[in-house]
Amino acid sequence: MLDALMIRTALPSDMDALATYLTAIVAERLPVLFVRDAPPSLEQVVTMIARHADDERSCLLLALDGDAVVGMLDFSGYARTQQRHVGTFGMSVARDARGRGIGTRLLRSLYDFAKEHGYRRLELEVFATNTAAIALYEREGFVHEGRRHGAVMVGEEAVDLVMMGKGI
Ligand SMILES: CC(C)(COP(=O)(O)OP(=O)(O)OC[C@H]1O[C@@H](n2cnc3c(N)ncnc32)[C@H](O)[C@@H]1OP(=O)(O)O)[C@@H](O)C(=O)NCCC(=O)NCCS
Repeated sequence: MLDALMIRTALPSDMDALATYLTAIVAERLPVLFVRDAPPSLEQVVTMIARHADDERSCLLLALDGDAVVGMLDFSGYARTQQRHVGTFGMSVARDARGRGIGTRLLRSLYDFAKEHGYRRLELEVFATNTAAIALYEREGFVHEGRRHGAVMVGEEAVDLVMMGKGI
């Protein structure tokens, strides 16, 4: 399957496949900061693709298996002058496709994009309970830089956010 996998930036023609993908991700109710309570409307997906297309410093990377979206990485840079070398992102892989290297390939494509666009540092926040994501980021050279105690609620429980960063 991975031989056929393609990573590229999202196009307007991906709107239906991306909406299907995001609907499944939202339904999982994952412990991640970027997930909303309800699936996005088609209009919101169109806006999301267009927003990235209009901003050359950001990117919406998709992992595609044929026409199906099986992974996504949403990257944006900071706007302040002193922080224009820093960007942050959220990512996910379709449940049935996890553990096959797709997340790793999305990250490697991000490094290429970020370097080409003058970024020198990537950072993110991840729920301390998200062991799969933390293991992926550690393996990719992200280091633990701090912890925001009880910064997010998961149901009734306050969970820590782990801050991680990597120079590129
Ligand atoms: C985190 C996520 C994107 C990883 O994507 P993936 O395609 O499964 O990752 P890969 O197959 O490239 O895995 C690479 C490494 O990550 C780590 N990893 C991935 N899944 C893991 C798991 N379930 N348990 C422990 N480590 C795991 C391992 O170090 C793995 O290396 P290995 O295969 O040599 O052991 C995916 O699990 C996901 O979509 N999770 C839900 C959304 C999410 O948590 N996003 C991150 C929010 S910050």
